Amino acid sequence: MDKLVSLCKRKGFIFQSSGIYGGVNGCWDFGPLGVELKRNLKNDWWYNFVQVRDNMVGLDASIIMHPDVWKASGHVDAFHDIVVDCKECKKRFREDHLESKVCPECGGELTEPKQFNSMLRTQLGVSEDTAVNTYLRPETCQSIFVDFKEIYSSYRVKVPFGIAQIGKAFRNEVNPRNFIFRSREFEQMEIEFFCREESEEEWFSWWQKEIWQWYLDLGIAESKLRWYEHPKESLAHYSKRTVDVEYEFPFGWGELQGLANRGTFDLTAHSKASGKDLAFFDQEQNERYIPTVLEPSAGADRTTLAVLCEAYDEEEVPTSKEGETETRVVMRLHPKLAPIKAAVLPLVKKDGLAELAQDLEAKLRRKFPTYYDHSGAIGRRYRRQDEIGTPFCVTVDFDTKEKGTVTVRERDSMAQVTIPIEEVTAYIEKRVTLERPIG
Ligand code: GAP
Repeated sequence: MDKLVSLCKRKGFIFQSSGIYGGVNGCWDFGPLGVELKRNLKNDWWYNFVQVRDNMVGLDASIIMHPDVWKASGHVDAFHDIVVDCKECKKRFREDHLESKVCPECGGELTEPKQFNSMLRTQLGVSEDTAVNTYLRPETCQSIFVDFKEIYSSYRVKVPFGIAQIGKAFRNEVNPRNFIFRSREFEQMEIEFFCREESEEEWFSWWQKEIWQWYLDLGIAESKLRWYEHPKESLAHYSKRTVDVEYEFPFGWGELQGLANRGTFDLTAHSKASGKDLAFFDQEQNERYIPTVLEPSAGADRTTLAVLCEAYDEEEVPTSKEGETETRVVMRLHPKLAPIKAAVLPLVKKDGLAELAQDLEAKLRRKFPTYYDHSGAIGRRYRRQDEIGTPFCVTVDFDTKEKGTVTVRERDSMAQVTIPIEEVTAYIEKRVTLERPIG
């Protein structure tokens, strides 16, 4: 983990928020490479779970909602962590994260456990007297329930169907930790899938298969994934059943995504609290009912961390000196996720090669993110791209001038092919785009 965290900072993937002021615990900034990586991941999720499906639609709702939403959803009363405070150093800990009955920092005595609501409060309104207390959403899905009727009646979708949303969520986590795994501000990719209660088990298994396949298609090894079934007594207040997909991080197994059967809990609660009927009207059957909700809920940051952990690799490779080797750090990111798809490198800066390479790079960057680099030995430049996961390096050399060809080097195998310069765009584009046929 230490190596990965330092590479992420050094190369501009991810760094601490407000670093020059000492940082903010549990908040992270995604730099030039991180933003591309996370965006590719979110686009891939949207492509797979919304765009190619005829039973899914999207939503982008506001983060701040009416405060009554959080009463009706049960979050005001039940979104609690059980915490203990150290009587000596005054630090607070989640009771379920403790391994012993004393303070893990200073060994001091701990208080009795108490409840701590982890929603982040905020105030809406311009005057102190009239401002309304509300919360930054702790999960994105509540807006899907609240907007359910608007969506199904305006877009004319019929149960079974799902509404998907990607967006920020906020939780005042007691102990943010493990880099971006547990933060206070993070992004969720959530689906609320509405179906009839009779078919809930069938759809639940169907979602399990779809979710699992998505992780495999991101390039995650199946041996690093497992399902965890929550025992009945530890289910969230809204859930009839929850299974999590867990990934084996360097710090242990951790949840990437939950799949919950929320039953009719949310639509019923919001119908009651708002006085607006959120039942679905089935015109064909002439029947009004509250559908059952299945919820695949994934974290964009955790999945980004998982693909980074999965991709990080070190291998011994020969140097130019006979019998000597060096360590190559390579991020074996799936090409569709890689922040930079191709680096364009002139073999030398002189003799017009730099200009030729710059022209090529300008052409390629209209199709996908690229990087131009002419500083240092070519081997060093390859290594720099390996470290950030660039799947292809295109080298412009003297043959480019004479024969119109370039060399394309592939990151994982380091194999090189020579192709005509006008074929480079198509050659790379074919290998880096999002696409997955669904069965
Ligand atoms: N709407 C259901 C829900 O929010 P959850 O299990 O609390 O369920 C869903 O959260 C996903 O959101 C988790 O599987 C995880 O990937 C992500 N997530 C939750 N809390 C997080 C945190 N503090 N930091 C980063 N990701 C988090």
